[in-house]
Amino acid sequence: MDTVRIGLLGCGNVGGALVAILQRDATSIAARTGVRLEITRVAVRSVAKERSVAIPRPLLTHDAAAVVADPEVDVVVEVIGGIEPARSLILDALKAGKPVVTANKELIANVGQEIFEAAASAGVDVLFEAAVGGGIPLIRPLRESLAGEPIRRVTGIVNGTTNYILTRMAEEGADYAEALAEAQQLGYAERDPTADVEGFDAGSKLAIIASIAFGGRIVAGDVYREGISRVTAADIAYAARLGYVVKLVAIAERVDDDVAVRVHPAMVPSTHPLASVRESFNAVFIEGDSVGELMLYGRGAGGMPSASAVLGDLIDAAHNLRAGSTGRALQLHPARLRPIDDLISAYYLDLEVIDRPGVLAAVAGVMGAHDVSIKSMEQEGAGAGARIVFVTHTARERDVQACLHALRSLDVVLRVGTLLRVLDS
Ligand SMILES: NC(=O)c1ccc[n+]([C@@H]2O[C@H](COP(=O)([O-])OP(=O)(O)OC[C@H]3O[C@@H](n4cnc5c(N)ncnc54)[C@H](OP(=O)(O)O)[C@@H]3O)[C@@H](O)[C@H]2O)c1
Repeated sequence: MDTVRIGLLGCGNVGGALVAILQRDATSIAARTGVRLEITRVAVRSVAKERSVAIPRPLLTHDAAAVVADPEVDVVVEVIGGIEPARSLILDALKAGKPVVTANKELIANVGQEIFEAAASAGVDVLFEAAVGGGIPLIRPLRESLAGEPIRRVTGIVNGTTNYILTRMAEEGADYAEALAEAQQLGYAERDPTADVEGFDAGSKLAIIASIAFGGRIVAGDVYREGISRVTAADIAYAARLGYVVKLVAIAERVDDDVAVRVHPAMVPSTHPLASVRESFNAVFIEGDSVGELMLYGRGAGGMPSASAVLGDLIDAAHNLRAGSTGRALQLHPARLRPIDDLISAYYLDLEVIDRPGVLAAVAGVMGAHDVSIKSMEQEGAGAGARIVFVTHTARERDVQACLHALRSLDVVLRVGTLLRVLDS
């Protein structure tokens, strides 16, 4: 039986869960896979800190570089997070010929190309299944099972915090602030929730998904991004009446020879498989020319689910190391990105208007002049502050934005409310 020695960088939520899983399951993993995984060094920021798992004191150090360089370490697991020192530590490990497993979405979504090139030139594995979708197997299915599939579109719910908030708003009629406060209380949202609610976290994950699905060099900054903080309880109630659920979606799609990548709240038809993804669960819906439609669903975050994904990568890396081989290197090509202005979509639009004769004609006239045609319309209330909610036929984003601009200058329009893109069924 070969023993593969692991140098663990970081022992927080994910690192601690990995230690716990190996303490519980190392023997059965060895029996199933023929590889004994043993953690020989653990780097943390504070050696004195109390931990949820028992780690023999001599294994702990605050010197992560020493763990990478240690000849007693065969494989490096990076679960520190952030760009530095994670980037330098990983590059050093690869240069030393040590395979790396990381859960670091921020790193892969921003400097993945540098890491992949370093791994390819060193001839060692870099694996990052846990970086997207926590415990959901997604990177490996995209890289391996769907390697030859002409993927058309990947639509994901990849942020548990926002999905939890939107679920509470839909099911309890809570407003955004109440639902966010509840999510914070339950530990689903950070004290500063910006990265989640404004779509940055989903944007990083989408950049990784799009890179793998379309083989393009796509970084987090390429992703068009809108968060959920402007979605109101009224929008969600209207959506429900019209047969939709509001979700924060991350979409990567092939359009001719371009790739479009965007994160925004959208109206998802209640019959769409993604509509049933509730609470903090994640799911990724893939559409391909040959495979048709498939969906991967599960726990998109959390120490244990994410450590499960790290463990799968570790076993893969350990097998390859033993066989003196590596997995297929990732080859990414420059990608041509389609700007959001060129998006063709149906839209939901909410307007607060003065209730008097001729208002509707004025609004419809502006929409028609911008090639935005109305599919359905509903008025709620009367007098000042009456609301009109429109769902449009498909229109071009550029035209819709110009139309909103013109509507804002109509004196009968008191407020232009939320604009939501409508997913097709
Ligand atoms: N949590 C999740 O649900 C989840 C899911 C998927 C992916 N991820 C990714 O997994 C990574 C880790 O996340 P996490 O939630 O486990 O983070 P975490 O709980 O904050 O743990 C980070 C660990 O890194 C250690 N650390 C920080 N700076 C260090 C340094 N300079 N040298 C050595 N150790 C250092 C910390 O030490 P101390 O313990 O001493 O402070 C801590 O043990 C991130 O990239 C994250 O995006 C997390």
